[in-house]
Amino acid sequence: VTGLSVAEVFSHALRGEVCHLTTPGEYRLELPVADWRRPSDAGDELLLRWCDGATLDVGCGPGRLIAELAVRGHVALGIDIVAEAIEQSRSRGAAALERDVFAPVPGEGRWETALLADGNIGIGGDATTLLDRIRRILRPGGRLVVETAPPGQRSSTVVARLECPCGHSGAFPWSVVSIDDLARMAQPAALVEVARESAGGRWVAVLMESPR
Ligand SMILES: C[S@@+](CC[C@H](N)C(=O)[O-])C[C@H]1O[C@@H](n2cnc3c(N)ncnc32)[C@H](O)[C@@H]1O
Repeated sequence: VTGLSVAEVFSHALRGEVCHLTTPGEYRLELPVADWRRPSDAGDELLLRWCDGATLDVGCGPGRLIAELAVRGHVALGIDIVAEAIEQSRSRGAAALERDVFAPVPGEGRWETALLADGNIGIGGDATTLLDRIRRILRPGGRLVVETAPPGQRSSTVVARLECPCGHSGAFPWSVVSIDDLARMAQPAALVEVARESAGGRWVAVLMESPR
């Protein structure tokens, strides 16, 4: 079967099938689904400690971060385009909705914190467009917590597709953003970097609306 949607292949992956992200003539990367499905661990603290107040996890996957935020008593909602991700998030006791970040979300303009974890800065293939969208989801003075690729790594946008044992998706753009380039990409979206941290090979930046 070809012509699966991206969401369909992600569903297969979340149900435990070995799936790959491929780019023409370049690379074939197994989707690190075990990393998404594991319980939240000490490494996630790097992201979670910046989540203050009502938090929206954009591209929440199976929900380990929102589940942990809920346990800590935060108001936290995950959104994802994959129904299986939403089901798995809910079965962990987290609140999650099947929504595309580029379509309206509940609480537009009122979220205290938004989270882009695990490379989700790549959603849509244009970081500035995604960051601009998320600034509008946040309340004025809200913060965006972004996990990035490490310094020294080249930022890039690829046209990728997802493959599972029963077929593949159409092509879609996906970006990898190094922390070196994030502030430059955030500037046209009226966001500035206010903090940066690293631990265990993971890198996180905190962005806020630029002062007018
Ligand atoms: C790299 S995975 C990260 C999963 C999750 N953060 C985790 O650790 O479990 C990317 C996730 O973003 C979701 N996604 C992709 N495009 C999206 C969009 N436009 N709006 C919302 N979610 C999206 C995918 O379905 C997938 O679950």
